[in-house]
Amino acid sequence: MSRIPASELLERTVAESLLERARAARAHAYVPYSHFPVGAALLAADGTIFTGCNVENASYGLTNCAERVALGKAVSEGVREFRAVAVVGPAGQESCPPCGACRQVLYEFGPRMQVVLPDEAGAPMIRLACELLPGAFDESWLNEPRG
Ligand code: THU
Repeated sequence: MSRIPASELLERTVAESLLERARAARAHAYVPYSHFPVGAALLAADGTIFTGCNVENASYGLTNCAERVALGKAVSEGVREFRAVAVVGPAGQESCPPCGACRQVLYEFGPRMQVVLPDEAGAPMIRLACELLPGAFDESWLNEPRG
């Protein structure tokens, strides 16, 4: 059960179109190692949509996840306020949860960002970033002077 006030909740049609944009972005995934394409579509507060896909590397640990690619595109263009992000895994396995690293990075730019994931039937299911990462490490831990 999500604690998103009805006034904030993305309209169903908006959530569905974000999922569609994530599916389209997934087509560009560079996944020669995992063969596990992921797509993301990030909705900024001003309505702009930034998409991303996972980009793998022969040095596996250098892989960038779809969500972080989309976020990096947005932030590098001066956009830092977001309403929502849709994430889809491979066709037939679309209901793919964001990894822990991506949860942390999404949280940084919006604990109340709505994360849209397809359910088993492909319909949008919405969770807040703070629900996906309870007890997140955030800037509040960095503000105390240390000796
Ligand atoms: N992946 C993402 O793009 N986002 C996630 O949140 C989960 C994992 C990618 C990374 C890698 O290219 C592939 O999925 C398999 O781990």
